[in-house]
Amino acid sequence: MLQKLPAFAGVKGPVVVIVMDGYGIPRHDVGSAIDAARKPTLDRLFAEYPNITLRAHGTAVGMPSDEDMGNSEVGHNAIGAGQVYSQGAALVANAIASGAIWEGKAWQEVVAAARAGTAGKAGVLHFIGLFSDGNVHSHIDHLRAMVVQAKADGVRTVRIHALLDGRDVPETSALDYVEPFEAFLAGISSDGFDARIASGGGRQYITMDRYDANWPMVERGWRTHVLGEGPKFASAAEAVKALRDKHPGTIDQDLPEFVIAEFDGDGCGQPIGTIEDGDAVVLFNFRGDRAIEITRAFVENDFDAFDRVRVPKVTYAGMLQYDGDLQLPKRFLVAPPAITDTSSEWFSKMGLAQFACSETQKFGHVTYFWNGNRSGRFDGETWEEVPSDVVPFEQRPWMKAAEITDAMIAALQSGKYAVMRCNYANGDMVGHTGNFRAATMSIEAVDLALARLLPAIDAAGGVALITADHGNADEMFELDKKTKEPARNADGSYKAKTAHTLNPVPLILYDNVSGGRLGLKQADGAGLSNIAATVANLLGLDKHPKWDDSLLVVK
Ligand code: 3PG
Ligand code: CO
Repeated sequence: MLQKLPAFAGVKGPVVVIVMDGYGIPRHDVGSAIDAARKPTLDRLFAEYPNITLRAHGTAVGMPSDEDMGNSEVGHNAIGAGQVYSQGAALVANAIASGAIWEGKAWQEVVAAARAGTAGKAGVLHFIGLFSDGNVHSHIDHLRAMVVQAKADGVRTVRIHALLDGRDVPETSALDYVEPFEAFLAGISSDGFDARIASGGGRQYITMDRYDANWPMVERGWRTHVLGEGPKFASAAEAVKALRDKHPGTIDQDLPEFVIAEFDGDGCGQPIGTIEDGDAVVLFNFRGDRAIEITRAFVENDFDAFDRVRVPKVTYAGMLQYDGDLQLPKRFLVAPPAITDTSSEWFSKMGLAQFACSETQKFGHVTYFWNGNRSGRFDGETWEEVPSDVVPFEQRPWMKAAEITDAMIAALQSGKYAVMRCNYANGDMVGHTGNFRAATMSIEAVDLALARLLPAIDAAGGVALITADHGNADEMFELDKKTKEPARNADGSYKAKTAHTLNPVPLILYDNVSGGRLGLKQADGAGLSNIAATVANLLGLDKHPKWDDSLLVVK
């Protein structure tokens, strides 16, 4: 059990953790939608309440290096677990570096299946995944290593289904990945080995939906990758160029689907990489949220989210297991981090009622990721999901901030909960569109929400920790790699940025109940994993021994 703190009995009302997704501390005011936003409540919080900064990227959240930006998965894992685990990106890179991945049963089964095929015909090894080096969902170097190994292991044909990124990497960078990779595939395609990109499309248009928000996206992906339906081109590089000409201004993540085909004399194209009985499929994304729906389409017998038309019998593997509770998928190349002793688990063991709320786009973040990638609730937990709009978020930058606030206020007024948490998705989801004006409005929407939520916390006698999982809206222009200053296009305009940032995030203690007894300390290297112990202390409890230290100061 968590011990009672001798020096502090805890606040009377609830302790509320508010995650402002994508709200980093800006390094420059140029390009910061946070500086540009009118946000009187946040300004007052920073001026009048204890606040410090936390590391939210790199090794502080279990990424391979400090060059890696943070993301919502690793951020919410660290906040909820109070600990830092080596995350998917690092685990896969290590398994490839050591060769352990090739020794594993899953890889062996995948290559054996592709070699064997069916009905006297060798199978094809398909790789589906996010085609970039963003290291949030995937890394293209992992794909490259697998293609090389597949050849060494006697697979004859490899087909790649490339989801264009532009969301974790610069917004129109697809050709920086596609052209060298198609050259690499051409180079390695010798001695009877044949590897090519077979289909693809923008990650926000096909395949990579999450949290059941937009199944038609996944259906479009299925039709593209499996059935080979869509506009046909001779190569992925040609497809990207042609689609950009046809849809001017469309950034990579939103580009429509394409299929690579062999063209005969009359211009009719035969897709080169439909997925057929006897083939093997590896989803090379390591992160779970956007991998689960397409995985279900491949592995579930009683699948009914859309009509799959044709269901090939394939040997399917995920790079990781995306959901341990649901065992999805059963076959996976690298074991995910085993996150245990999370704050929800221990607060539950202490008999504390907990409330978690967000809108669909971040609901799994504040529940599943928060609880160490567990899809089930702990005793005493209540979860409330507010359905997200299914529109590009630059069109609705306020998103569901008001409705989340309504739900939080109702939960506060119920008097039932000791520990509460919510996520305002705005700064991140709108930040990812690259639309500066919309991003300023997204921050203004969060500010307005806080202006309503904080008085309800006062009325309940509670306190809040206001923080973020990583930056995004704080840097809406690309930075020059060398100078780290905002980079410009040839015409002098700034280059829009859609990805997360490397900036730290705030931790604000909103406390009107202790009479100034409580503060925060800016400990060296403090990061998101210090929040769980801070919450425990605010509840009057000592931290779990596995959790990183509390940042609470009690005077
Ligand atoms: C996404 O999946 O939308 C981005 O790759 C990462 O965003 P998130 O980590 O904030 O969810
Ligand atoms: Co994000």
